[in-house]
Amino acid sequence: PKSDGWKKQGITLYQNCWFPSNLLPNVIAFQKNFKPKDEDIIMASFPKSGTTWLKSLLFSILNRHKYYYNNNNHNNDNENPLLTTISHHLVPAFEFQFYSNYPENVHDLDTMPSPRLVATHIPYASLPDSINKFSKSRIIYISRNPLDVIVSFWHFANGHPERLSREWTVEYFVDMFCKGDITFGPYWEHVLGYWKASLARPENVLFLKYEDLKKDSVGQLKKIAKFVGLPFSQEEENDGVVEQILEMCSLSKLKNLDVNKYGEVRPNIHNKIFFRKGQVGDWINHLTPSMVERVKNIIIEKLNDSGLSFKL
Ligand code: A3P
Repeated sequence: PKSDGWKKQGITLYQNCWFPSNLLPNVIAFQKNFKPKDEDIIMASFPKSGTTWLKSLLFSILNRHKYYYNNNNHNNDNENPLLTTISHHLVPAFEFQFYSNYPENVHDLDTMPSPRLVATHIPYASLPDSINKFSKSRIIYISRNPLDVIVSFWHFANGHPERLSREWTVEYFVDMFCKGDITFGPYWEHVLGYWKASLARPENVLFLKYEDLKKDSVGQLKKIAKFVGLPFSQEEENDGVVEQILEMCSLSKLKNLDVNKYGEVRPNIHNKIFFRKGQVGDWINHLTPSMVERVKNIIIEKLNDSGLSFKL
């Protein structure tokens, strides 16, 4: 490695990706043992790209008949679990909560109701072959422009007591990002892996951008629902179910719930660090022109002629 950032972060290079060292045994066990089902729905992301948001949205899409108002549906006075449970527990991740060294968080894949909704930060190339070659599982990937990812990651690092050091300056963080030595990095390998998969297997892999989700939430939510095989009916649209879901999953709503303000993802990891500003372009307030130039040049070079680009 070109820097010592990996030591501070506690990450280990495995299959060309910097995995959190403490999660690596889980990742390897997952690769070896996971048995997919065709109905599985897998949400994938690079950290700080909108994982928490998309988890809430997907949970809502899948469970909307129970928890959202619709004239034809009399079961919707159930309390919405999003009000009392943090999204990371409603939609657990392979490498954190299964095959896990966090005993308090272990869920059982075998007893999860179908369709199983599970998340991951693992790059496409490191998913088990059973998923990306042999199953009909659907993967929804959310990406975000790299400058906002850096700023979001840097804030997260400063609030995260476990792996990431409080001493980090934004300069140091930009440097780590550009060298690729960052948790689940390099970033460009991550986004490109899923991007190419979405082109090769459009039925199985949907590639989203945080910025599009912000700009055209209704259109994107409908697209996601259709992709997972649960399109909104005309009645649901007339009854405003799409808008209800977006309202429930909005940053302002979720951020202010007690469970999200005071809850813990794992012991000592406060859930509130997953909710900050949620703005597109916040990088302008934190990065200098030379940092921006450096990141832009790298991203342009790495994404090259892939067809993938981010507005920077
Ligand atoms: P900022 O730090 O830019 O505010 P992840 O969930 O992948 O860790 O990403 C966290 C980022 O998504 C943070 O970005 C956070 O504020 C934002 N976020 C969290 N919940 C959100 C929501 N419901 N809607 C929009 N953005 C959200």
